[in-house]
Amino acid sequence: MSSSKSSQLKLDEIGKWSELKLEIIRKYAHSYTTILTSHRLSPIYIDGFAGAGEHISRTTGERIKGSPLEAFETRPSFAAFHLVDLEGTRADALKALAAGRTDTKIYHGDCNDVLLNKVFPEVAKSVFNRALCILDPYGLHLDWEVIQAAGRTGQIEIFLNFATGDMQRNVFRKDQSKVSAESLERMNRFWGDESWKPLIYTTQQGLFGDMEEKDRLSVTNLLTAFKSRLKKVAGFGFVPEPVPMKNSKGTVIYHLFYASPKSKGGELGQKIVTQIMNKYREEGQI
Ligand SMILES: C[S@@+](CC[C@H](N)C(=O)[O-])C[C@H]1O[C@@H](n2cnc3c(N)ncnc32)[C@H](O)[C@@H]1O
Repeated sequence: MSSSKSSQLKLDEIGKWSELKLEIIRKYAHSYTTILTSHRLSPIYIDGFAGAGEHISRTTGERIKGSPLEAFETRPSFAAFHLVDLEGTRADALKALAAGRTDTKIYHGDCNDVLLNKVFPEVAKSVFNRALCILDPYGLHLDWEVIQAAGRTGQIEIFLNFATGDMQRNVFRKDQSKVSAESLERMNRFWGDESWKPLIYTTQQGLFGDMEEKDRLSVTNLLTAFKSRLKKVAGFGFVPEPVPMKNSKGTVIYHLFYASPKSKGGELGQKIVTQIMNKYREEGQI
């Protein structure tokens, strides 16, 4: 993703894969609010890394809606919106887009703090609340604590960008002494501990049988472990296979995960998301 200037605000230029992600979330959001509303539950929309509300499409050069604007247009409507961005100009842009709305709170801050301390407790105030939470960082900027807190509410579903590209570029080295302390710290904070470390290595038989060599494992093992962690540690009930999001060169930038609570609603959410993702798989788009 690169940035292009538009007055004070820098809008992101987004590629096809980001547009696909927005399409998947848009389709699911419609089913989500339809089902919850019909059960007299209150659907809340949470965007931890909300962005400016708009982007520039790299395909057409046109302005396109970002996730918060897509959420505003979802019908039936969400009952409330919580939008967070770390960057002041983006939080201001969101405030302008939400002007006059009484159902929206914009937070200028770090979502690792805001979601844990303000937004999730707000959702938990009523047993009738349910929330769809989008966690869409550029890279390893999300803390495991947030994911775990979402899972443990039993009321929140997440779409999560697993930062495969950032990990491969900055963390997965044969020689871990070459990984910067900052990258290690970011990875540990995202994973929640250091249990990812042995997963990225495999022990291979050396040429002379008795020699052992450490090599890099494919990211598949890490994805499988993360899927299991979302269930076993964070307490989510359902986690379908994540979708790889690739750039125009075919490189995987991230994997899009969905996770939902242990409940009938969570099971239904998984079925619908799997159907949506399978359609893109069949069309060869992912
Ligand atoms: C990939 S963009 C979000 C795109 C948006 N979800 C969409 O689809 O339209 C990531 C955004 O996260 C913001 N950001 C980065 N670190 C953050 C943090 N710790 N807390 C909240 N926002 C953050 C950036 O300023 C940027 O606007």
